[in-house]
Amino acid sequence: MTPATLAEEAGALAGFLRPATRIACLTGAGMSTESGIPDYRSPQGLYRTLSSEEVFDIRRFRADPSHFYRVIGPLYTSIEEALPNAGHLALAELAGRCGKNVKIATQNIDGLHQKAGRADVYEVHGTMRTLTCQSCGGQVGSSALRDRLQAGELLRHHCGGVLKPDITFYGEMLPEGPLACARQAMAEADLVLVLGTSLLVYPAAALPSLRTRGCPLVIINREATVMDEQASLVIHGAIGNVLPQSVAKL
Ligand SMILES: NC(=O)c1ccc[n+]([C@@H]2O[C@H](COP(=O)([O-])OP(=O)(O)OC[C@H]3O[C@@H](n4cnc5c(N)ncnc54)[C@H](O)[C@@H]3O)[C@@H](O)[C@H]2O)c1
Ligand SMILES: [Zn+2]
Repeated sequence: MTPATLAEEAGALAGFLRPATRIACLTGAGMSTESGIPDYRSPQGLYRTLSSEEVFDIRRFRADPSHFYRVIGPLYTSIEEALPNAGHLALAELAGRCGKNVKIATQNIDGLHQKAGRADVYEVHGTMRTLTCQSCGGQVGSSALRDRLQAGELLRHHCGGVLKPDITFYGEMLPEGPLACARQAMAEADLVLVLGTSLLVYPAAALPSLRTRGCPLVIINREATVMDEQASLVIHGAIGNVLPQSVAKL
């Protein structure tokens, strides 16, 4: 089903949200574009402005970590300054005022779901909040290194080893704990929402397929995705427009 106007879309979405009790969400970079953080693959996305997908390739990082740090500086700054947008707040309201059990598996490293509060968040591609030393395994928080990160400086641990942000690079395994929680949330859900992801990066993109038979899948994304045909409802629009309107109806 593809409703036409924003009001119709919000109404159709509310029809799925209202009866749901356990809502599992998979969110991607499109969740945060309205907070001013560019996504990857849209026309304005990072891969059009940063050098390439290689920036987040683990082999490239190991070969030349200073290149990574030079490129990541501006992205880190925009993440630090960003605030949750209407979409993040609507998910928090679903968990808060609406009393739903909301679990969010996010591919984002921006921490904006946590800033919005309320729902359980599983960061399946890790986080920028901590960094791990590639030599001794020691972990440090990123906030104390804020200025140096923003300046694009190569960061080293006190032992001399290179520090790597605890985000998942291409070629790395996803963090086990969050991935297991995300899988369980999808399997236990009575509604799965896919929000702002191109569904091109695995294994995160496979998470919605863990929903039980009969559990509806709703996709909100500006562009078509490979899962559109399996969805009970597809909305090709901005999350920050349709989701808050829909939650307000509950
Ligand atoms: N905010 C962040 O933390 C951030 C930013 C950029 C990239 N990433 C990384 O991107 C990788 C995966 O790619 P992805 O699928 O998350 O992103 P992606 O860039 O591949 O896809 C984002 C999708 O969101 C859609 N979109 C953009 N703005 C939207 C909006 N306001 N409303 C609805 N849809 C919107 C786009 O049409 C696009 O299809 C992950 O590894 C993630 O770590 C994260
Ligand atoms: Zn060290």
